[in-house]
Amino acid sequence: MHPINLLKGSPHPSLLPATHLRSAAATVLSKPSLYIPALDYGDEAGYHPLRASIAKWLTDFYAPARPIPTERICITGGASQNLACILQVFTDPRHTVAVWLPEPTYHLVFTMFRDAGLEDRLRAVAEDEEGLLVEELEQGIANARYQACDFKGCGDGGDAKSAGAGQTSPGKQYKHLIYCVPTYANPSGATMSVPRREALVRLARRHDALVVCDDVYDFLPVTPAEHPPVPRLVDIDHTLDGGVGDDQFGNVVSNGSFSKILGPGCRVGWAEATPKFVDALAQCGSNISGGAPSHLTSTYINEMLEDGSFHTHLNRTILPAVSARYRLLAEAVRHKLASLGVTFQPDEARGMAVGGFFLWLRLPDRVSSEDADREAAKQGLVIGKGGLFAVPGPDTGGSRERVDGFLRLCFMWENEDRLVEGVERLEMVLRGLLAST
Ligand SMILES: Cc1ncc(COP(=O)(O)O)c(C=O)c1O
Repeated sequence: MHPINLLKGSPHPSLLPATHLRSAAATVLSKPSLYIPALDYGDEAGYHPLRASIAKWLTDFYAPARPIPTERICITGGASQNLACILQVFTDPRHTVAVWLPEPTYHLVFTMFRDAGLEDRLRAVAEDEEGLLVEELEQGIANARYQACDFKGCGDGGDAKSAGAGQTSPGKQYKHLIYCVPTYANPSGATMSVPRREALVRLARRHDALVVCDDVYDFLPVTPAEHPPVPRLVDIDHTLDGGVGDDQFGNVVSNGSFSKILGPGCRVGWAEATPKFVDALAQCGSNISGGAPSHLTSTYINEMLEDGSFHTHLNRTILPAVSARYRLLAEAVRHKLASLGVTFQPDEARGMAVGGFFLWLRLPDRVSSEDADREAAKQGLVIGKGGLFAVPGPDTGGSRERVDGFLRLCFMWENEDRLVEGVERLEMVLRGLLAST
């Protein structure tokens, strides 16, 4: 039986822009004025023309109150690499009290918090169809103040991070970090409502928290995007109640990526925040030594943005695929699994905002996702069992109920006909488990 992988979160090979990239690379590599700087160390904030092209594209896409200036953007090696840099520059285990994550959360971020020395600070917050429960988060932060003394030296008394030999980090150390995926979340598919976004920005300001938003799926709606789309938290931080506070660092950073539009191997993304925040982020030690990551690929992607092939690829290849593939998988789940008691989100039929790469399934009451995962593997079917997305640690305040009866399915990686076959195998698995309980 051939394997079917509904776990992997990459675009299908037929969706890769090899032709456009080949032509962009040929342009760069045939002009000394482009390839000489492209093959050298670059600016700490990244390839300036790409920063400017991204600022223009994001201004057109989000239509924020004011055009986005280039100074608000720096180039990164993708959202993952950049989260690690953000933690290096803007947190410190001696000062940062807690890291708050929705549960379920994108599972591959946990290791980055461990690497930053924040493993014992992870705290889970519930979310609903409108995103993170801000009141629960507020309560958690209030309680965390009392627990702060359990963490040696953390809280008010922590020293600013020293970069060694008399250098002080250009960043500030926030007391709390909040991680989220506000639009078409991985794994839950939920999109945070505007009131919830505003409440979260205000909460972050009250508690000296940095909200790191992985805004990597925003460009992938199933139905043509409303224009302008829901404002990002970084846009809200820019304008809400008179804009960012006196220190000018702001309380939100948007972590963008080309991984889901062009291909994860590009390893190019961007961060948007206040110019002061972006400046400090670009001063991360590895950028000082080597320039921003993914410099050569940045020049190729800039060519694609400038010659229009980026938008052609997004509009003519990726967006139709997101819609067709979402509908194929969603309809298969509805027709084959709903009668067994399975529900899913994001669900167009329930009026939810729909897009991204994933469906989040709630299994029938008597079925655990551990069992479903084990039995699916016997059928050659790979799925994302809910437990993967639980915030790890003994004292996170999390709940197995938020993950144990759930599964994540990706509709962007497998061949289209295998999406339906995958659901048929899952139906067999669930019928077998229901019959044995
Ligand atoms: C929420 C989220 N953040 C980050 C990433 C990884 O992004 P990148 O490839 O830019 O590191 C993913 C990929 O699945 C994701 O779903």
